[in-house]
Amino acid sequence: MGFAPGDAKKGANLFKTRCAQCHTLEAGGGNKTGPGLHGLFGRKTGSVEGYAYTDANKQKGITWDENTLFEYLENPKKYIPGTKMAFGGLKKDKDRNDLITFLKESTA
Ligand code: HEC
Repeated sequence: MGFAPGDAKKGANLFKTRCAQCHTLEAGGGNKTGPGLHGLFGRKTGSVEGYAYTDANKQKGITWDENTLFEYLENPKKYIPGTKMAFGGLKKDKDRNDLITFLKESTA
C-alpha cells in the first residue's frame, strides 16, 4: 500500500499534536529540535542548511515525496536506522495519508 490523498484538516490536527513541537512549516520558520519542513517535497534527505543532522539522516539519499514520507512516518527508526528523531511513528495508513496531504499544502 502506498500514499492516497486524505483529509488535510485532520492532517493539520495531527501535525499540531504530533510534529509541531519539533518542526516548523513556513518559509523562514527555521529549525527547532528537528529541521524546518518548508520545501520538503522534492528535496533530498538531510539538506536543510545549518541543521545538524545525524549521518544516518544525511546519507539516506532519497528524495522526500508522498511515498517516501508514507513509509518513513510509519516507523522512522526502521526507515532511517540511527536517526535521532524521537518519534515512534503513525501506524494507521489513514493518519499518514491525512498528514501527508496537509504537509504537501503547507510546506510548498
Ligand atoms: C521530538 C521531536 C520530533 C518530533 C515529535 C518529530 N520530529 Fe521529525 N525530526 C526530528 C529530528 C531531531 C530530525 C532530524 C533527524 C536526524 O538528523 O537524524 C527529524 C527529521 C524529520 C524529517 C527528515 C527531514 C530531512 O530534511 O531529511 C522529516 C520529513 C520529519 N522529521 C517529519 C516529521 C513529521 C511529519 C512529524 C510528525 C508526525 C515529526 N517529524 C515528528 C524531530 C522530531
